[in-house]
Amino acid sequence: MCGIVGYLGKKNTKQILLDGLKELEYRGYDSAGIAVLQNGEFSNFKAVGKLVNLEEKTKDFKTDGFSVGIGHTRWATHGKPTELNAHPHLGESSYVVHNGIIENYATLKKELQSSGITFLSQTDTEVIVHQFEKNLKISNNPFEAFAKTVKELHGAYAILLVTKAEPNAIFFAKQGSPMLVGINAEDEKYFASSDTPIIGHCTNVNYFEDGDYGYITSSEIAIFDKDKKRKEPKFLTLLQNKLSAQKNGFRFFMEKEIYEQSDVISDTLMGRLSENEIIFDEIDKTLFDGISEIKLCACGTSYHSAMSASYLFERYSRIKTSLEIASEFRYREPVMSSDTLFIVISQSGETADTLEALKMAKASGLKTLVICNVDNSSMVRLADATILTRAGIEKGVASTKAFATQITVFWMLSLYIAKLKNSLEDNKIAKQISLLREIPSHVKVNDDLHERIKRLSKRYLHGHGFFFIGRDIFYPLALEGALKLKEISYLHAEGYPSGEMKHGPIALADPELFTIALLPKHLHYEKSKSNVEELSARDSTICAISQIEFEKADDFVQISECRDYMLEFFEMMIVVQLLSLEISIRLGNDVDMPRNLAKSVTVE
Ligand code: G6P
Repeated sequence: MCGIVGYLGKKNTKQILLDGLKELEYRGYDSAGIAVLQNGEFSNFKAVGKLVNLEEKTKDFKTDGFSVGIGHTRWATHGKPTELNAHPHLGESSYVVHNGIIENYATLKKELQSSGITFLSQTDTEVIVHQFEKNLKISNNPFEAFAKTVKELHGAYAILLVTKAEPNAIFFAKQGSPMLVGINAEDEKYFASSDTPIIGHCTNVNYFEDGDYGYITSSEIAIFDKDKKRKEPKFLTLLQNKLSAQKNGFRFFMEKEIYEQSDVISDTLMGRLSENEIIFDEIDKTLFDGISEIKLCACGTSYHSAMSASYLFERYSRIKTSLEIASEFRYREPVMSSDTLFIVISQSGETADTLEALKMAKASGLKTLVICNVDNSSMVRLADATILTRAGIEKGVASTKAFATQITVFWMLSLYIAKLKNSLEDNKIAKQISLLREIPSHVKVNDDLHERIKRLSKRYLHGHGFFFIGRDIFYPLALEGALKLKEISYLHAEGYPSGEMKHGPIALADPELFTIALLPKHLHYEKSKSNVEELSARDSTICAISQIEFEKADDFVQISECRDYMLEFFEMMIVVQLLSLEISIRLGNDVDMPRNLAKSVTVE
């Protein structure tokens, strides 16, 4: 996702900002920009695409002597990846960069516009700088104006602001999104949204806490907490290993991404939930006019989230839904009718098979929608409408947080369509929305759970194969669990509908066959349990995942109490992800870059 850097000192500010942004490239971005205030004058540069484009634009720009500067890499969430939407955003005489989402931006923007302010971008961020300048006109005190602005913002943010009204300072605020300041013996100050840009420049670092805001000059570090009380910075020694800084101390990117799921799902939900309605500002309700069927099409993990969606669409939206593996769809001469909405799902937006399927659907005159993680990707450019999943860049080849955010979007979309089609009463939609709000707390990885799975994993390194089994929407989760394990452990694993085992695969049952059984309390529990008992009676080694203790299992992983099957889905998703991760680590495999696989497959 987006990255922030800031610098205050006498060295080459331009280069420090550009180098800092380069260190944040691994997070993914689609545009970038910097603003430098020197001798009372601002210089600002923005460019779409890679940082070389920004470097090219700034090549004749020089910074000597004292200056303050801020920089940003943007991963589009509100508004397309264009130069105008890139940060820093300008008011009359101030610039701002921001990570996160300002939830009340629409209200603030309306008020500012009615008082005559013109907005240049479609972003939520731009309100911050205009609101600050409005407050500055009233108080004439930059810090007071900034503090007042911060109190008026709702949502998540890490903010840096520089202004001609206080040319020796950088103002900052943090709520929900990470932000730190680093120092060294040369009285320089470095800001960043993670450690990597300041490694090599700073010796000590202060990680801001939620609610912190204030300003920093060469000689002063003024931090205030959410109750406006001044507090002392807590400087820690900065670790100097860049790769481990990128991984935030996790052993692998996949592990970090599993742990990030709570935060990225919060981002996916942000601004999209009201009391009894789902809000997708990015799509027009008319997209669903005349639609009586949905066709979902994808590859790999995205296909599994599509299959999960098919259960939700039929159950909640009461709309006929069919599923297509993109590589199959392309060559089987499918019949397409214009009352079908064609939905493609892709983390990257570049997978060749899915892209070609989308082109075919378009050529047949179907309406199209893409659920994607990368704005401006080929599929986003081609489809009639887009919903972004907001998972941030995913580095592990085995997809985790992309899958989790896709499921979150589909759950929301099923309710959005239910409302349009009147297929679910308002109170039921409201209940589902309250469940959606609970997902982030259910996907927070609990240390005891991780420790238990780590220990358990040593019993699942050999044997002649794995069956992941589940019913209903837990069947696609079983498929996804098996795919995760295959991808990074190279062990044979299959996902199967629990009720189908007796029609063939049960012949394989013996102690060397490992069954990972998904047993949700709130969906077909008794039926699923009998299917597992059939396997247990044939001596298969069983690892059951459930809220309810299951005595017929050899191993049992208990998930926390959930009041709905979809929350159990998310809890079990974490368990199967961690199980694959720990098995792969024990086998000594390269978890992030498994053999023979690519993150984005752009060939047929
Ligand atoms: C590749 C990756 C998978 C991914 C699939 C679809 O095979 O290794 O992890 O699920 O492509 O990718 P997409 O970007 O379209 O979701």
